[in-house]
Order: sequence, then C-alpha cells, then structure tokens
Amino acid sequence: MPFPKDFLWGGAFASAQFEGAWDAGGKVPSIQDFVRGSSAGKDRAFSARLHEGVYYPSHRAVDFYHHVDEDLSLLAGMGFTCLRLSIAWARIFKDAKCLVPNEEGLAFYNHIFDECGRLGMTPVVTINHFDIPMEIACKNQGFLSRSTIDLYMRFVKLIMERYRGKVRHWLPFNEINFGMMPMGAFKAQGIVPPEVAASGEWHPSHNLPVSLNDRMQALHHQFVASAQVVKLAHEIDPGNRVGCMIGHITQYPLTCDPCDVLACQENDRLINKFCGDVLARGSYPPYIRAWMSKNDVEIVEDPQDVQLIKENTIDFYAFSYYMTNCISEQFAGERVDGNLIGGLKNPHLETSEWGWQVDPCGLRFTLHELQDRYGLPLMVVENGLGARDQVSADGCIHDPYRIAYLRDHIREMRRAVDEGANVIGYTAWSPIDSVSASTGQMSKRYGMVYVDRDDEGNGDMARIKKDSYAWYRRCIESNGEAL
Ligand code: BG6
Repeated sequence: MPFPKDFLWGGAFASAQFEGAWDAGGKVPSIQDFVRGSSAGKDRAFSARLHEGVYYPSHRAVDFYHHVDEDLSLLAGMGFTCLRLSIAWARIFKDAKCLVPNEEGLAFYNHIFDECGRLGMTPVVTINHFDIPMEIACKNQGFLSRSTIDLYMRFVKLIMERYRGKVRHWLPFNEINFGMMPMGAFKAQGIVPPEVAASGEWHPSHNLPVSLNDRMQALHHQFVASAQVVKLAHEIDPGNRVGCMIGHITQYPLTCDPCDVLACQENDRLINKFCGDVLARGSYPPYIRAWMSKNDVEIVEDPQDVQLIKENTIDFYAFSYYMTNCISEQFAGERVDGNLIGGLKNPHLETSEWGWQVDPCGLRFTLHELQDRYGLPLMVVENGLGARDQVSADGCIHDPYRIAYLRDHIREMRRAVDEGANVIGYTAWSPIDSVSASTGQMSKRYGMVYVDRDDEGNGDMARIKKDSYAWYRRCIESNGEAL
C-alpha cells in the first residue's frame, strides 16, 4: 500500500465560490462580489458599483453559509480526513484598517473547525483565495501597496490565535504564481487600478491596466507576507505547518526541437518555478533576476526582506493540478484553453468540455519534478474535472467521466508515491458543486454532490449525491487502493 496510513484525503473550496451570504453576518464586500455572472461564462464584467437586477454569482453561491452542517456531514460521509477551505477576510474585518474584528464571522469559522474536529477532518486553511476586501483592493490597489502586508498580517494573527490548536495547516495565498500573468493582478493580487475603481467597467477577459512592474512589486509584497505568515505560525504554535499554493500549469515542449525545449523551460521557470523557488528555497533565483533586468522590472525591496524570506521558508509544497499544455518557440499549432492560461494542443491528450487537456500522467511527472527540486512534503490541494452534469430521469446524477478523471489521477499519484514521492494529502476540487472561478458558471461542476442551482441563479439549492460520491468514499476507505 503506497499511501501512508495518515494520508490526508478530502476536498477543497474557496469562500467566494461556495459560501454565499455575501452581506450577512457582518461581512463586507470582497472583489468577487462585483463580478457579474454570465451563462456563457464569458465577458464577465467587473465594475466598482453594483447594478440592480444583475446576477452576481458570489452573492449566494451555493449557500454553504446556511447549509454548513448538512454540507460538512455530506463530506464526512465520504470519509474525508481533511478539508481545505478559505477564510473570507471580508467576513473577519468590517473596516479596511482591520482593527475591529467581526465576532460573527469568527464564530462562523469556529463552528466549522469544531465540526471538522468532531467529524475527523483536519482543516487546511487558505488564508486568501482570490477574495481580498473590496475597499483594500480599491484604496490600496491590493498588494501593490506595501501597507497591505500589515493589514493582511492583522487578519492572519487574529485567525491564527483564535483557531490555535484547531487549524494546523495554512496556505497564505491561493495560486500566488498567477500574479505572473496579467489577469492575476485582479484575482491573485487584488489590484483594482484607480481608473477602474473610480468609474470604469472592466472585463476580466481583457487584461487589467496593471504593468508588469506593478505585478512583480505586488508579488514581492506577497512573498514578504508569506514569510511573515511562516514566522508567526511557528511562533504561535510550533505544530503549525505552512505551505505555498502554486497553480501548477505543467508544460511540455511541443516538439524535441531544442528551441521548443528551451522555450518550454523558460515558460516553466516563470510560470511555475519562480514563486515556489522563492518560497521554498528562500531567495529570488538568478534566472528571475536576469529576466527582470531584461524586462526593465525594478521593484522596491526593503533591506530586511532578504533575511526574512531566507529564514522563513515553507514547510510543505501545495499545488493545484488540472491539466497540461504544450509550448513551442514558434507558437504555431492549435491552441487550447487551461487554468487561467492556455497553451498548445497536445495530440496525445483529450480535452474537457472547457478545453482543458486531461493528463493524469502529467500529475506523476509533476510530483517527481517537485520532489526532486524541493525535497519537501507535497500536497495536491486541487484536482478535478469541470463538467456539465445532468439529473437523469431516475433522479440520479451519473458521472462516470468524473470517476474516470479522479481514478486516473489518483492512480498516477499512487504510482508517484510508490516511486518515492512524499505526498501527504490530496483534496479534490469542490466536492460539492460551487461557482467556477474563471467563468462564474454553475454549469461547470466539479462536485461529487450536485447542487440545484443554475447559471442564472435559479434552483432550490438541494444537494444530491452523484455516482462519484460512493466511488470517492470507497477510494478513501481503502486508502487509495479501490480505484
Ligand atoms: C483554481 C482555483 O485555479 O481552479 C479555484 O484555485 C478554481 O478557485 C479552480 O475554481 C477551477 O477553476 P474553474 O475556473 O473551473 O473554477
């Protein structure tokens, strides 16, 4: 049996995609509350003011806020031994200075963690998952301003002290590396530029007017914040463990032309390796310094940052993995979509309904790469298939495609463990359906539990177990043997 006895099996959610109750319990708005829905999943405008009669998916999402006990018991029913979820910063502080804690918000998560304890699920908490409070995003331009680090750390200190002993696994930022891409400025860094905050509408399908330099500056502030989280977590409870969370877009050279191989290496370093290298090895790697100077990127770093980042590296490496794509120097060939960025089509792979290439072997490859590079415990904190599920005439949801996807990826993960990778946990993405981050659609479903809710916000939120529910329960029960 390759998986260790204490392997963490579970699922992962993000507050803005799952909780709903966007203005209940003292919560103030976060950036996601201003992004409109769209049944086509395209041209989802963001504007700094809310419009009457418009559907905003985050406002009710799938209403976990009011289904919390039902949902936690559904998850425990699959035998989960861990649960990854994020804490909505905007639920914890009502004021943009982060001085007055919102006890109602704190009580909400306290209840979740108590229930997790009772149900035998170890919480893995993402401190910030694409949902910075709106006021901080507009006033400070998110993490572009260094002062946001202090605000964030007030939030971190409060939740770490409050949930001491109940939460031991922490992830400072979801997919921190997405700040390397133009669209990540909004989601991952919380930057709302002044012109957008003042009046303008912005379509997330267009790139935000945020320069590369500003994105790199914001990223630097997030590195400093992550290191401060590691330091604080260890001070508060030596049993705390802090990981990074990298959105791993594994890439292959399209051909064996050495130019493609080099182009692929460069892309992989920028998109995947750079952030992990800083957070796990404790300094900016030489290749990124060279790239920054070639691209005229000059960031402001405080003298103490170097030491802080060096001394406070992560305890484990966590990442999301959904798909792979190909790179060619010529950028010729058919393009495919992907998690935030697309790439070139791999003729050996099938794609999902949303054009993401399905590549279970790529997970094994990625685990080995990461093990060799960092030698840290690894956790796969997102993996899954977004698909259009249908409720059949028998009232059931038959999702053999999802079972096949999960089975094939878990099998490859098991092989990787068998071949030496130190994988400590696996959390499938959104085991109860939730709103898609990239498209805002409900119809892009990942769950083993179906939620009656559509792309326009209709439905009674009833939960129905899909076929994959029983399958995942068997998988966990057998510690990954019965696939
Ligand atoms: C990851 C995010 O990038 O992918 C999640 O961390 C997101 O928030 C998940 O939901 C799946 O992507 P999507 O766009 O299909 O929801």
